[in-house]
Amino acid sequence: MSPLDAHPANRVALVTGGCSGIGKAIAERLAARGHSLVLVSERPDALEAVASEIRARHRVAVHTVAKDLARPEAAAELHAAVAGRGLAVDILVNNAGFFFFGETVDADPGRAAAMLQLHVVTPSLLCTLFGRDMRARGRGHILIVASISAWRDLPGINYYGSSKKYLRGFARALRCELAVHGVNVTCLAPGATATALYSATAVPVERARRLGVMMDADAVAEAGLAAMFAGQAEHIPGRLTRAMLAPQWAIDLLRRRGPWLRRDES
Ligand SMILES: NC(=O)c1ccc[n+]([C@@H]2O[C@H](COP(=O)([O-])OP(=O)(O)OC[C@H]3O[C@@H](n4cnc5c(N)ncnc54)[C@H](OP(=O)(O)O)[C@@H]3O)[C@@H](O)[C@H]2O)c1
Repeated sequence: MSPLDAHPANRVALVTGGCSGIGKAIAERLAARGHSLVLVSERPDALEAVASEIRARHRVAVHTVAKDLARPEAAAELHAAVAGRGLAVDILVNNAGFFFFGETVDADPGRAAAMLQLHVVTPSLLCTLFGRDMRARGRGHILIVASISAWRDLPGINYYGSSKKYLRGFARALRCELAVHGVNVTCLAPGATATALYSATAVPVERARRLGVMMDADAVAEAGLAAMFAGQAEHIPGRLTRAMLAPQWAIDLLRRRGPWLRRDES
């Protein structure tokens, strides 16, 4: 049991994107450890359904905040909403995200801006606002869900990959700043994971999962929380995922020589 768990007042975990995929699996595990939850995502019905499930299974308090986190005001509004309920967040999981394929110059500007807002601006500001509270209390954990794509330059998913690179760098610097105040920051970098992230694409998620090319969200969540509670800086879950990280030259060659590669699925 970590020192954080041992502290009775130190129990509330906020998970963005907590009603689906990796976020939901993380929320389940935190509830199983006894943490109260604040789940945040866009769809109120889905949120409420997941919250009821978790309350019934783990007998913890589960608060929900339905919010589009791809809006400039989202972080400040969320911080105020949580404070308004008298909750002190000691575990912040920045997880909400979405995905699209396509060349950079073909991207829909609105969709691209929403991705930068959701993956870059909102999580950064949530770290500022909730991290400031944690620093004042001298304890806390921040888990930032980036992606293995942060390790490479990836043509075809440039907005996604570059936003995750930002998160990785942001997490590393924030970790140095907050460590001296007793607050841990961990960056979780999953590889391909079988979730609804790909629901708007042609990726055969279920087949990939059966073949072992995609991990289960549960395994990713388990590994991410273990890394966070152990105070690790970064973690890429799955030995196969780490082994499959192609060298940059191979990615560049494939892009130049692979005219069969799908250019746009949007
Ligand atoms: N699956 C993978 O292969 C993979 C690999 C590496 C990293 N990741 C990262 O893992 C994180 C979780 O993704 P996932 O795979 O679990 O996908 P997912 O099942 O689609 O979950 C994404 C979550 O983000 C929420 N979300 C999306 N847009 C939002 C918005 N504008 N405002 C508020 N919430 C929003 C969704 O809520 P609603 O359903 O209510 O919209 C959902 O709960 C993402 O950051 C993703 O980039 C995933």
